[in-house]
Amino acid sequence: MSAETFVKGKTIELRKKHIGPSCKIFFSHDPIKIVKAKGQYMYDEKGRRYLDCINNVAHVGHCHPDVVKAGAQQMELLNTNSRFLHDNLVLYAQRLQATLPDKLSVCYFVNSGSEANDLALRLAWQYSGHKDVITLENAYHGHVSSLIAISPYKFIQLSDTEQIQSVHVAPSPDVYRGKYRADHPDPASAYADEVKDMIHRVHEKGGKIAAFIAESLQSCGGQVIPPPGYFQQVAQHVRQAGGVFIADEVQVGFGRVGTHFWAFQLQGEDFVPDIVTMGKPIGNGHPMSCVVTTKEVAESFMASGIEYFNTFGGNPVSCAIGMAVLDVLEKEDLQGNALRVGRYLTGLLEEQKEKHPLVGDIRCQGLFAGVELVKDRLKLTPATAEAQEVIYRLKEQCILLSADGPHRNVLKLKPPMCFTKEDADLLVGKLDHILTELEEALGLKFHNALSVENESSKRKPTDENGRQHLGGLAHGGGSSQEDPQIAKRIRS
Ligand SMILES: Cc1ncc(COP(=O)(O)O)c(C=O)c1O
Repeated sequence: MSAETFVKGKTIELRKKHIGPSCKIFFSHDPIKIVKAKGQYMYDEKGRRYLDCINNVAHVGHCHPDVVKAGAQQMELLNTNSRFLHDNLVLYAQRLQATLPDKLSVCYFVNSGSEANDLALRLAWQYSGHKDVITLENAYHGHVSSLIAISPYKFIQLSDTEQIQSVHVAPSPDVYRGKYRADHPDPASAYADEVKDMIHRVHEKGGKIAAFIAESLQSCGGQVIPPPGYFQQVAQHVRQAGGVFIADEVQVGFGRVGTHFWAFQLQGEDFVPDIVTMGKPIGNGHPMSCVVTTKEVAESFMASGIEYFNTFGGNPVSCAIGMAVLDVLEKEDLQGNALRVGRYLTGLLEEQKEKHPLVGDIRCQGLFAGVELVKDRLKLTPATAEAQEVIYRLKEQCILLSADGPHRNVLKLKPPMCFTKEDADLLVGKLDHILTELEEALGLKFHNALSVENESSKRKPTDENGRQHLGGLAHGGGSSQEDPQIAKRIRS
């Protein structure tokens, strides 16, 4: 069978005609058509192989044969809803529970990260009897209305009047660029105190806290790793106010952080959220997700008297696939791989930071990594256009990477968990080369240990989807040494 039904141009034309224009595509100037994938590689219609550094959904590797087989075998036998007894549902719930602290023992199976977070909010509202929700700056929790309302990453684009009054935005616990930085004696307490103060302000206005929601590590928000101890203190303040702590593990769960199975566990053994939401990697590409909570929260949800029914959530096929993902993680020691390869990758990236003035910060935890590009290490001027140039040039060399964060200047790595040291060498080798060329073209060099001198003029940056960003274009002037081609691309 041919790898494609239409030639690429026709696919683009039909997509423009029939698919909503707000559904953006990667590399909009020259989109990639992917026709198959295996492990950590994706293949286009010409058979070109791309190293995939961004698809955390294909957690145990694209199209893993064990996962495909488990789904196909169960599909041949039965697929139906969870109103019938089926062993897959309880077996899978038991398997998932075994990865979590004992207290988190009750599962609701749903179909996407958005559904999981929406249900988590319903649980929190019902359990607490309160309405107000605290979310973090730059957070993204999903595309349904209830979640756009708690996702500053998206609602920042709305006018004030469209923002919901019961949603409150606390500072992102970002110790590189945030309000309290690495030089602060206790950033965890300082950021948690911000939440405490926010709760007081909400109370003063007559509101009551239902929940605090945060990703255990912020992903779209710029690969931010909160300081240990922050969640414990926030949970204490929120619970004192009668609310619950929701940990969104949709991006970062299932062993990605290497040292632990769940990213919230990085905060310390003493921290247990009230609700955990899961998605993306849970089914290795099959649409499924889950909310896990305590018996108390689940019983209060039951007390509302409303039956919870979800047509597809927890069906035997999804549960078979979920179990196969857990089996492969164990069998191939992929959490261990994330730890080993993650450490190796961190070392390579740290060397890049030593070498390249454009690299402001490296944030890594297993196979979750962020490389923040800045034009000035003292002012932290975001190198947004440069980040976009890096990902476009890597794409030309068949490596898929994305840039994210509020300034779209953080190179974001979250590859399938079978990523190898050789893959890390290849990626960082090419990154090194591109950064060298960019810095030469822009006339960027180390001024002293901290600050970077920039002799080049700048362009209005656009991201991989062609959107323009206004941040961080401070410097003027030109360089006599710059590579005219690269400089022109960055500016145009
Ligand atoms: C942290 C986080 N939560 C929730 C979601 C929503 O998941 P879905 O797109 O499966 O609805 C996303 C999606 O990107 C996410 O990154």
